[in-house]
Amino acid sequence: MRAWHVTAHGEPIDVMQIAEVPDPVPGPGEVLVRVSAVSANFPDVLLARGEYQVKPEIPFSPGVELAGVVEALGEGVTNVAVGDRIVAFHIGVLSELAVVPANAVLPAPEALSDAEASGLMIAYQTAYFALHRRAQIQPGEWLLVHAAAGGVGAASIQLGVAAGARVIAVVGDERKAEVARQQGAEAVLFRGVDDIPVRVNEITEKHGADVAVDPVGGAAFEASVRCIAFEGRLVVIGFASGEIATLKTNLTLIKNFSVEGLYWGMYAERKPWLVAEAHEALTQLAAEGKIKPVVDEIVPFEQAPEAIQKLAGGSTVGRVVISVRT
Ligand SMILES: NC(=O)c1ccc[n+]([C@@H]2O[C@H](COP(=O)([O-])OP(=O)(O)OC[C@H]3O[C@@H](n4cnc5c(N)ncnc54)[C@H](OP(=O)(O)O)[C@@H]3O)[C@@H](O)[C@H]2O)c1
Repeated sequence: MRAWHVTAHGEPIDVMQIAEVPDPVPGPGEVLVRVSAVSANFPDVLLARGEYQVKPEIPFSPGVELAGVVEALGEGVTNVAVGDRIVAFHIGVLSELAVVPANAVLPAPEALSDAEASGLMIAYQTAYFALHRRAQIQPGEWLLVHAAAGGVGAASIQLGVAAGARVIAVVGDERKAEVARQQGAEAVLFRGVDDIPVRVNEITEKHGADVAVDPVGGAAFEASVRCIAFEGRLVVIGFASGEIATLKTNLTLIKNFSVEGLYWGMYAERKPWLVAEAHEALTQLAAEGKIKPVVDEIVPFEQAPEAIQKLAGGSTVGRVVISVRT
């Protein structure tokens, strides 16, 4: 089978090579999947650069989530059957066949295509945990979403609207603004152009944002601190800007707000039943037409490095999907 390998640390476009390798065999507790689609994720960029919190030994396959069909089961696997259409999250799935731990596999929602389903796990689980587990968002609350047309951002808008929140989106350009509006954002602000705190306070009539979702860090985090509401919850999800902000803790006291960290992978590791529960809720929302991963582009397997490099440039909306069907 063919697999993409990262052969040195650097920009994805420079360090990814396609390799012909023996078909993998699932061990005990593992599942062999014939991969249909892999969504490119920001962590793919960080993995290639050697900047992700997990640093696999070189050469390794990137790819962190997929949609596909179960091809074979390792010893002791009972939660799926051969032929099941599934989604899974695991580092190293950008290949025609992938072995993943059985506990990282969940049923693919019938309402979603392979390309859409391949973008469900990480972005939507992350947004779901951010809004419901960490921020406990309530109907009618104001939700501020940074990088709102990105994978996590678009998912946060859709899930926020589904939860009855009113969404203010922050984006980098007009194409992204249109995507944010299509997902249900009530107001759209432009990063680097609008004064975000001033505009949020105007839009919410001085109430502020009850919940802020921040996958960007740096100036985005600082802007959220300046417009978070009394008893607001600011959820730190990532640092797409490359900058980690610092916080004067007296501000949390004065404004009675909380900063909530979210590393979704830790839930998958420590509280997998919560991930399964969230997947059921997401499957139901997909069936009701309330959520649907935004697929920017579907590219053939051979163009995987270009797809991942696009994410590094911050120019994509929703998900770029790598089609692996052979
Ligand atoms: N904590 C967790 O469990 C978890 C889970 C998933 C993802 N993440 C993290 O969340 C972040 C977003 O992930 P994603 O999949 O939504 O990514 P994405 O779709 O690539 O979106 C990233 C967006 O960040 C914005 N951005 C602002 N400054 C940027 C810069 N200097 N370079 C690149 N982009 C910049 C851009 O949107 P605008 O131009 O519209 O601002 C860009 O489209 C990543 O850092 C990722 O590692 C964390």
